[in-house]
Amino acid sequence: MSSSDPIAQASTEQHMPRYYAQRASEYERVFERPHRQPNIATLQAWLRQQFAGRRVLEVATGTGFWLPAATAEALSWQCTDINPEVLAEARAKPLDFERVKFQLADAYALNLVPASTPSPFDAGFAGLWFSHVPVSRQAAWLQQFHGQLQAGSCVVLMDNRYVEGDSTPIGRVDSEGNGYQLRQLADGSQHEVMKNFPSEARMRELLGAQVSEFEWTELDYFWTLRYRLR
Ligand SMILES: C[S@@+](CC[C@H](N)C(=O)[O-])C[C@H]1O[C@@H](n2cnc3c(N)ncnc32)[C@H](O)[C@@H]1O
Repeated sequence: MSSSDPIAQASTEQHMPRYYAQRASEYERVFERPHRQPNIATLQAWLRQQFAGRRVLEVATGTGFWLPAATAEALSWQCTDINPEVLAEARAKPLDFERVKFQLADAYALNLVPASTPSPFDAGFAGLWFSHVPVSRQAAWLQQFHGQLQAGSCVVLMDNRYVEGDSTPIGRVDSEGNGYQLRQLADGSQHEVMKNFPSEARMRELLGAQVSEFEWTELDYFWTLRYRLR
């Protein structure tokens, strides 16, 4: 099914943050699915390595499922999310709060590092976030995220792959190619959530000459992308 109604797209996009606020206490059930455990363990070990010795800016931290592993060897870690409800869950994790800090921030209006101030961050991370960025905003979102980081920073994005029969089906696709899933919370409420599954080719096209050391990896249920900013 396809829809070209820009108002429908905007309202669904605006609803997305509220959906995750409502889902905060039940969010991590998605990581309990037994067949995904080997991938999750692989990702946890991989994230720990990626950020060893780094000063990391993370967007859309959510409930912080990846934080215990990912922050283990980082020098410092700035978590951000638009929803206080999810960051409250993240703060309850066993973390070194001397190194791991939390701040409310809109991923589309990051202003942690004012222009003209050198960035303290030499790494960036976004887990299961990029899939929620509309196709028309992907390039601009990447650009402003990169703008918060030092030149030469290591950036890690990771997200879900679409797996037929396992992923929530895409119910409709809008005119710019965004997919939408119908999701249900434990209280029975239903939510239409935009969810995209970008290919390696799409990410190469978006990042182009801005980056080096582009490393795309596909696990059964997730993709990871690591690159270095020029
Ligand atoms: C799929 S969750 C990912 C959470 C976490 N990174 C993970 O891997 O489990 C998406 C997160 O994006 C957050 N979010 C939604 N809109 C946002 C925005 N405009 N700026 C920052 N965070 C946002 C939600 O609160 C939610 O925590």
